[in-house]
Amino acid sequence: MGKEAIKIELEKRALPEVLRLADSTAVNTPELWGKRREEIREILQEECYGRMPRTGWETEWETVQEDKNAFGGKAVLRTVEVRIHTNSRYTSYPFQLVLPKNVQKPPVFVYLTFLPLSSDELMEEITDSGYAVARVSYQDIAPDQGDGYTNGPGALFPGNAFDGWGKLAVWAWSTSRIMDYLVDLEEIDGKRIAVAGHSRLGKAALLCGAMDDRFSMVISNDSGAGGISLFRGKEGENVADLCRNFPYWFCGNLKKYAGGETKLPFDQHFLAALVAPRKLYAASAVDDQWADPRSEFLSCAAVTPVYELLGEKGLVCDSLPETGDAFHEGSVGYHLRPGTHYLGREDWKLFMEYRRRHGV
Ligand code: GCU
Repeated sequence: MGKEAIKIELEKRALPEVLRLADSTAVNTPELWGKRREEIREILQEECYGRMPRTGWETEWETVQEDKNAFGGKAVLRTVEVRIHTNSRYTSYPFQLVLPKNVQKPPVFVYLTFLPLSSDELMEEITDSGYAVARVSYQDIAPDQGDGYTNGPGALFPGNAFDGWGKLAVWAWSTSRIMDYLVDLEEIDGKRIAVAGHSRLGKAALLCGAMDDRFSMVISNDSGAGGISLFRGKEGENVADLCRNFPYWFCGNLKKYAGGETKLPFDQHFLAALVAPRKLYAASAVDDQWADPRSEFLSCAAVTPVYELLGEKGLVCDSLPETGDAFHEGSVGYHLRPGTHYLGREDWKLFMEYRRRHGV
């Protein structure tokens, strides 16, 4: 009965098929999925987020500060500067790495934050639970404004008015440059690195983890439109709102679909599908109607056939979520928290519970 309700809700959305190639071939093997995956990456970059650079830069990392006895001696707190060069240009931004001392090779949260690195923001609680945190303050990468390609990594790889990368892609790509540092770092477990963010940074975290297979888990909190929410049938913010208020987050081509969601050649379950078979976790807050919890949840349900094709469980739940529910059994996790648009302690607690349960 409950499962039927999810199916009916999904049918109403009339989503484009994630498991069908552009030439109409049904995708029914992992090999064909590999091909479909490339198509989807292409569509999303062309029509929504813009093209992310694949080659043409070099990166260096320098420890610029280190406190070996942070949080009363429990952790090492290191500030690392990421320096990116092309032939003619250069940009840099810092991130902060907190390493708990009581765990050998801890798993990591790469966390995109709104706050400056000087804030403490739950760091102690998370590291006390046995996780390292690599935290980047998103506007240190590039300001949250429409500045063309004049700042940060955008200025290194300027794009055009159609498929030139928007700021979500810039923040996402730059987070992968932190991953480049972490993946071989002896002090952490390079196989258990999750990327997490809230709201616009939940969109950027999802894009980052979708495009970068090295993350074992992707956490998208209250990410809404342009994040994990399906556009078709969505309440609250829509494509026209995004293109009016935050055009520079996306590529110019997205404007073609303002007021015409049904014409989109993708929906957001395409983005989520790129995470498969790795762990995907979406979180909603029940009073966050602008993001639309129902559409966030349905995206997780819509992506489940891709996980199943790859031999994973996807989202495991018997009914539409009720406030307070957490679905942790499958490779796609989801919770619906009481309250408003926010990333708080209850959310983090559930992310950590999920990670412990699945060993990611
Ligand atoms: C606005 C925007 C959302 C975004 C949010 C945020 O509300 O419309 O798309 O998620 O800001 O980042 O806080």
